[in-house]
Amino acid sequence: MNVFRVAPPPRSPWHGRPARLVDVEPEAPGVATYRFDCGGPFHFAPGQFNMLHLPGIGAAAISISSAPDAATVGHTVRAVGNVTHALARLRPGAGVFLRGPWGKPWPLDALCDRDVVLVAGGVGLASLRSAIVAVGRRRGDFGRIRLLVGGRAPADLLYAREYPAWVRADIDIRTIVDRPAAGWPGPAGLVTDLLAGLDFDPRRTSLLCCGPEPMMRAVAAAGRARGLAATDIFLSLERNMACAAGLCGLCQFGPTFVCRDGPVFSHDRIAPFLAVRHL
Ligand SMILES: Cc1cc2nc3c(=O)[nH]c(=O)nc-3n(C[C@H](O)[C@H](O)[C@H](O)COP(=O)(O)OP(=O)(O)OC[C@H]3O[C@@H](n4cnc5c(N)ncnc54)[C@H](O)[C@@H]3O)c2cc1C
Ligand code: FES
Repeated sequence: MNVFRVAPPPRSPWHGRPARLVDVEPEAPGVATYRFDCGGPFHFAPGQFNMLHLPGIGAAAISISSAPDAATVGHTVRAVGNVTHALARLRPGAGVFLRGPWGKPWPLDALCDRDVVLVAGGVGLASLRSAIVAVGRRRGDFGRIRLLVGGRAPADLLYAREYPAWVRADIDIRTIVDRPAAGWPGPAGLVTDLLAGLDFDPRRTSLLCCGPEPMMRAVAAAGRARGLAATDIFLSLERNMACAAGLCGLCQFGPTFVCRDGPVFSHDRIAPFLAVRHL
């Protein structure tokens, strides 16, 4: 049965839903989760994204980080440029437009009965968070679930307050940072080091990964070297976007458009293009 449904795309690609900022939760230096009230249910599947429009400023593609049935739509955003810095200046009550949901989600239905390794780097955990919550609620449908999280420093690890609930849902969480602070009890290094130390059966394991592109390339290569099939490795790509509807071509990546054909791709579809610099 298909339970992780993909919402139909908006009636018109240009139709943005008015939404009001309800609250802002700081997550890490420069990163916060913004919750929006759309005045009714907002259907999406984990891994999909919205175009977040700030009137008079511009729009940015942002993953939906809230649980699929949450009362508000959550976006976890790092302030890096025009739109995201303006977002960081908004206060509760401010109005925005959410255009979406867009894109192919994580293939959760296809992963039933399999072991799953989720690998996140930095703000990439935002795209995986709704999948983690959804899988946790249907935990009996999956085999072992392992979450590997990498960050620059301990303060950069997102959603740490939610880890106890995820552990109670029988999700094995391992964290690593490249710059450990005094008192950090975990290992120092890269998330690929965690993958290297993980025991898994490649025949019954699928890997979902979201983070900076060099990190995803390294994770995919490490997974392949450990025997995972390219069809069992899924990466969520980022490219600059404008329409998000497969119309303008801005997000072209090889023969695909990331907004329409992704952002989640199986590695076999994109491996030849990932190897090309600046594509
Ligand atoms: C499917 C998808 C999902 C995404 N999900 C998320 C998410 O959940 N959270 C999140 O935080 N991001 C996410 N992103 C990334 C986000 O869309 C981009 O970071 C977006 O560019 C931010 O928009 P902006 O206007 O704030 O930044 P922009 O102004 O577009 O700037 C983007 C980058 O360019 C640099 N830059 C900006 N101006 C200049 C300049 N004048 N000279 C040189 N460099 C400059 C900035 O430092 C920054 O690194 C996602 C992207 C995609 C495609
Ligand atoms: S953003 Fe226009 S085609 Fe993808």
